Amino acid sequence: MLLNRIRTVTELRSELDAHRTNGSTIGFVPTMGFLHEGHGSLLRRAREESDVVVLSIFVNPLQFNDETDYEVYPNDDALDDRIAAKYGVDIVFNPSVAEMYPDGTPKTSVRVSDVTEVLEGKYRPGHFDGVTLVVNKLLHMVEPTRAYFGEKDYQQLAVVRQMVADLSMRSEIVGCPIVRDEDGLALSSRNSLLSADQRRRALSLSNALQVGQHQFLAGVTDPEMLVSAVREVLESESDVKVDYVAAVDCDTLRPPNVLSVPFQLLVAATVDNVRLIDNCRVEG
Ligand code: PAJ
Repeated sequence: MLLNRIRTVTELRSELDAHRTNGSTIGFVPTMGFLHEGHGSLLRRAREESDVVVLSIFVNPLQFNDETDYEVYPNDDALDDRIAAKYGVDIVFNPSVAEMYPDGTPKTSVRVSDVTEVLEGKYRPGHFDGVTLVVNKLLHMVEPTRAYFGEKDYQQLAVVRQMVADLSMRSEIVGCPIVRDEDGLALSSRNSLLSADQRRRALSLSNALQVGQHQFLAGVTDPEMLVSAVREVLESESDVKVDYVAAVDCDTLRPPNVLSVPFQLLVAATVDNVRLIDNCRVEG
């Protein structure tokens, strides 16, 4: 199958307008490329629910608070083409930085308060401002019926939902479950940066989440106690540096005084120099 790869906003809009005139629904999956089966699960869902599936691939410089992280972000066009073809993507929107930000850094900011101020927001200053700006622009460019986001980036999904609600945007935001490797490691483009030994140590994230779930089932309802048990698992692995462990309300992302189901357990840690995040819902 020949992929329809579009690099300009003008071309994207004219193609999509034609589809819209026919009454077609549009499913949109925004990504930064280096696709894996986690992205694939979003594409599958979009394919099931839409007439036209649009995939965007754009490594957004504005959401990287660490320049090296941006520079080493992996990319592989052939891999992306294979996954896009496998899931029957109709349009791949793959703009350049100049196409997305023709005047350099935009003078307009899109800032969501509150839900951005905890967890990732504390450790990655400016990150969510970059995410909301680019997702806002992409939603304006594609104007999808539905846009699909992974629960892997749980806080990002909450932030996007808040932005879309606050700005009365039309698209429906659909959250999709985390896809994991057989050993439990959540799929991530950043996993490709891990050596075999680092990958083994990275398993401490999903293992720690499981310990947290077991602790709750064993009767631990004090958030601090549960968080320390999870943290201990992560810290027992060599050279795993914990940014945060949090047991929080699923919507506000703030810790309750006493844990009750459902709640969300989230971890962020650096394995040597690769930063990874993971989370799970505890439902009892
Ligand atoms: P990226 O990291 O490429 O992820 C694109 C989408 O795939 C996100 O919604 C993410 O949550 C989802 N995803 C990644 N790994 C997943 C997994 N293992 N299981 C399920 N879904 C998974 O997130 C971004 O890009 C960017 O911030 C973006 C939204 C594109 C804005 O630049």
